[in-house]
Amino acid sequence: MALRNIRTEGDPILGKISKPILEMTEKTKILIEDMLETMYHANGVGLAAVQAGVLKRVVVIDVSEEGNSPIILINPEIIDKSGSQTGDEGCLSVPGKSGVVTRAMKVKVKAFDENMKVFELEGEGLLARAIQHEVDHLDGILYTSKVEGKLNETED
Ligand code: NI
Repeated sequence: MALRNIRTEGDPILGKISKPILEMTEKTKILIEDMLETMYHANGVGLAAVQAGVLKRVVVIDVSEEGNSPIILINPEIIDKSGSQTGDEGCLSVPGKSGVVTRAMKVKVKAFDENMKVFELEGEGLLARAIQHEVDHLDGILYTSKVEGKLNETED
């Protein structure tokens, strides 16, 4: 496994649309391992492949306190949304900043796992926020375009 360089705001790749994964390859398996390592190293709760400079529809998320519950979403598609939550959001591609974004409180996502088996996952609260944030990345959307009010400076 290896750490990947995280692309930051201003890098044009972050505005591009990622392509679906058609079959699992060794290269994509390594990408997923590297994305997990990079996310944990940066103390993030989610990372999309485009943030590592790869335009593939792959997302990793871990919203657990212990950082021991990785979720891998390949070709994720949000198929149901309900409720609403308004709260602070940040992004590893926008270091040192945070902003208030309104998202659905609950989502249902359909995705493929590392074996390209389809599954559905329901998320609520922070998990739902992370899923929506990461799926936006795959469509070239940064949370900064959805911030209510202005971006705030954070400690680190
Ligand atoms: Ni992000």
